[in-house]
Amino acid sequence: MEVNVVTATRKAAMILEKDYRISEIDPRVYGSFVEHLGRAVYGGVYEPGHPTADEQGFRRDVLELVKELNTPIIRYPGGNFVSGYNWEDGIGPKENRPRRLDLAWRTVETNEVGVNEFADWAKKAGSEVMMAINLGTRGVDAARNIVEYCNHPGGSYYSDLRKSHGYAEPHGFKLWCLGNEMDGPWQIGAKTAYEYGRVAAESAKVMKWVDPSIELVACGSSNIAMPTFGEWEATILDHTYEHVDYVSLHTYYGNRDNDTPNFLARTLGMDEFINSVIAICDYIKAKKRSKKTLHLSFDEWNVWFHSNEADKKVEPWTVAPPLLEDVYTMEDALLVGSMLISLLRRADRVKVACIAQLINVIAPIMTQNGGPAWRQTIFYPFMHASLYGRGVALLPVIKSDKYDTKEFTDVPYLDSIAVLNEEKDELTIFAVNRNIEGGLDFTCDLRGFADYSVVEHIVLAHEDLKAVNTADNPNNVQPTAGGGAKADAGKLTALLPKASWNVIRLAKRS
Ligand code: AHR
Repeated sequence: MEVNVVTATRKAAMILEKDYRISEIDPRVYGSFVEHLGRAVYGGVYEPGHPTADEQGFRRDVLELVKELNTPIIRYPGGNFVSGYNWEDGIGPKENRPRRLDLAWRTVETNEVGVNEFADWAKKAGSEVMMAINLGTRGVDAARNIVEYCNHPGGSYYSDLRKSHGYAEPHGFKLWCLGNEMDGPWQIGAKTAYEYGRVAAESAKVMKWVDPSIELVACGSSNIAMPTFGEWEATILDHTYEHVDYVSLHTYYGNRDNDTPNFLARTLGMDEFINSVIAICDYIKAKKRSKKTLHLSFDEWNVWFHSNEADKKVEPWTVAPPLLEDVYTMEDALLVGSMLISLLRRADRVKVACIAQLINVIAPIMTQNGGPAWRQTIFYPFMHASLYGRGVALLPVIKSDKYDTKEFTDVPYLDSIAVLNEEKDELTIFAVNRNIEGGLDFTCDLRGFADYSVVEHIVLAHEDLKAVNTADNPNNVQPTAGGGAKADAGKLTALLPKASWNVIRLAKRS
């Protein structure tokens, strides 16, 4: 069917003012996540027989793609996996490490990769590690021991054990998660809010006694739809508020009923989720008359639904089976772009965020065992945001045409945020056109930026919203620098193509 460009084109106007600032963006909002799950570690991070493997068995082709994403921090080793994990299984000589049943994903864990190997790998990728501890089957004792092993310089049992394993210097992990999704019945050792609040507070206390420089994330609800959402946060924060620095949020979206306008509106729910958790944190702050403001760690977010049916057919108790291998479409990339915009909209409170995950498992990077590695569609908005979204998030005033869907009303066709990099005198506008029927006539009043001009206008779009990248066709969906944004005397104009992700980069004229 031919699209009527005249009726399908919508309009949106934005005002950007240099002094309307949300906050400095914490680079850790461009974090990612590697879990011992499916082929994320074995076949992704680590594949000793692969032609590109380095001396430690790490795939160099994967490392190159991870570096392109410029992700400053990677959460590890789970996820659901961590709630049954004995971190001691993954240290010391590899030949002595046990094979264990992983009850979270019904697989066999060989423990060939553990905390030391992962620290080495993350260093090669240019990232920090955000370490998660097991508060499912374990507790306070294992929590203090792992911090001692990883961060204490020496002269104690666990720090000397690390040295004996060839790591003279401590890893110095700064950010730690106190368990994972402990409210979920699917979690190994799931807890009530009271039970979790107590064990998290006591673990936090001793972990900081071992290393006072660390920061801690308490588990919030697994998602906003959990029946205990709200009450869970209030209760666990009652116990942990003064011991922790962040509370976590997780969310995954899908387009199961193939209603794309509704799917693309899901970030309205993400905004609501973030704002609700902030409100609960501030309620506890007020109740405790605390001076401390708690921040948010959105440490799992992405699109996840394509692989659900295939996963039901995977043979249990095998090593590194293909699990959660979503093949992402063009429209998924649009939602990922919008999710990044939601995170930046609350850059004042969201200080950490991790796209879940990084390699093979609901991931921007895919590999074939023994074969190539390639970029999925969602790779691009994440990479753009991570590269150009450093600096100060500006608060845009947006007036956009809107639409209604079965779940949302007044959905703006334009979703956008701007980032000012004062060091480089660069301004970047990230914009999603949610209109799947036509373009979006976009104007932006660049107050205070009259001396800025467009450097490039990157566009990610595809005629087919279900288009994907595969091993055989890895560049089917890829960005072009073909957008036509123009800025003249403080007024920017652009036609954002239908259903597109846009990165409009401006710089001060010299
Ligand atoms: O990222 C996949 C899984 O999603 C994680 O293991 C879990 O924390 C969440 O439910």
